[in-house]
Amino acid sequence: MGFCTDAIHVGQEPDPSTGAVVAPIYQTSTYVQQALGNNKGFDYARTAHPNRKALERTIAKLEGGAAAYVFTSGMAGIDSVLRLLRPGDHAIFSQSVYGGVYRLSTQFLVQFGMEFSFIDTSCVEKVRQALRPSTKMIYVETPTNPTMIVSDIAAIAELVREKKLTMVVDNTFLSPYLQQPLALGAHIVVHSMTKYLNGHSDCVGGAVILARKEDAEKIFFLQRSAGAGLAPMDCFLVSRGIKTLAVRMERHNANGMAVAKFLEAHPKVKRVIYPGLASHPQHAVAKKQQRGFGGMLSFDVGSLEASRSVLNNVKLCSLAESLGGVETLISLPALMTHASIPPDVRLSIGITEGLIRLSIGIEDVEDIIADLDRALAAV
Ligand SMILES: Cc1ncc(COP(=O)(O)O)c(C=O)c1O
Repeated sequence: MGFCTDAIHVGQEPDPSTGAVVAPIYQTSTYVQQALGNNKGFDYARTAHPNRKALERTIAKLEGGAAAYVFTSGMAGIDSVLRLLRPGDHAIFSQSVYGGVYRLSTQFLVQFGMEFSFIDTSCVEKVRQALRPSTKMIYVETPTNPTMIVSDIAAIAELVREKKLTMVVDNTFLSPYLQQPLALGAHIVVHSMTKYLNGHSDCVGGAVILARKEDAEKIFFLQRSAGAGLAPMDCFLVSRGIKTLAVRMERHNANGMAVAKFLEAHPKVKRVIYPGLASHPQHAVAKKQQRGFGGMLSFDVGSLEASRSVLNNVKLCSLAESLGGVETLISLPALMTHASIPPDVRLSIGITEGLIRLSIGIEDVEDIIADLDRALAAV
């Protein structure tokens, strides 16, 4: 079946006991056993429950994985993946990886003897040069948040195969509709489902999708043992959101491109970073490995004074963290999502105080553009 059909039907079969087209929310902590050890596949909701199983089947199918596990947040899922590392292991991350991943690794995991390097993964040669005998994992975010740097997944996967490493890709910005890292050679995909997979800004969740059964067993062990599996109501919300993923992403693509072109032509904008523009340094790679360019872009207005003015003057665009919802969100990464990164490191990776991030929603694009135009006029 095609992607859109799978997104609507896999894991979402009618409820066998009632015929309900939409599976009920199993809001129960425990399941009765007919006799000792004789249950219907579920015993305690920390370990598993029907809504979680259903969502995990859908996501595994859409990303082309052997298995998927869903967590209470993107960070909870990423934490489980990083627990695959052992003391003494070294991991390479994309330079401007999500701030929470930077914080978790440099402020917490280092105390267990793991080592981390943050490098420009858009250059495979730099990835090769950063390898150490102890390197076990390469963790790529593509495009990166918020600098929209694109890394060549297939090229890094080749290096990973040669060196027998594990490759993780954060696919949050594009969703499996626009990019499928496992098909390009990655071993593990992570998502903040809070974003496009849910798509309606009404739940926090994460997903880990595994190509290899042995990784899947370890992640399932961590999910049920540490207890960060996603609750029934949140699984229901993400399952509902995923049914419209394909149509939402098409609209995000179209609106993203229109807003990028508008901003690129605007005299008050110094730079627009959108992989769909020919001016983007990795436009060719994005075109090769993505089915579309999505709804995320960043643009630089040159100073904190100017960016503050834009943020204070928009009306339709909501000043808020997060991304991937149906509504347009605007943010200032340097002072919001990436504030935990030391200022010198932040600047060295291009996150200036004038850099504004847009998560372009699926409203009428003329309205989004008019709102930005008005706000830029006040700069
Ligand atoms: C690219 C990316 N990965 C991971 C995360 C973490 O996800 P969550 O906030 O659901 O824990 C985020 C959050 O913004 C993100 O943008």
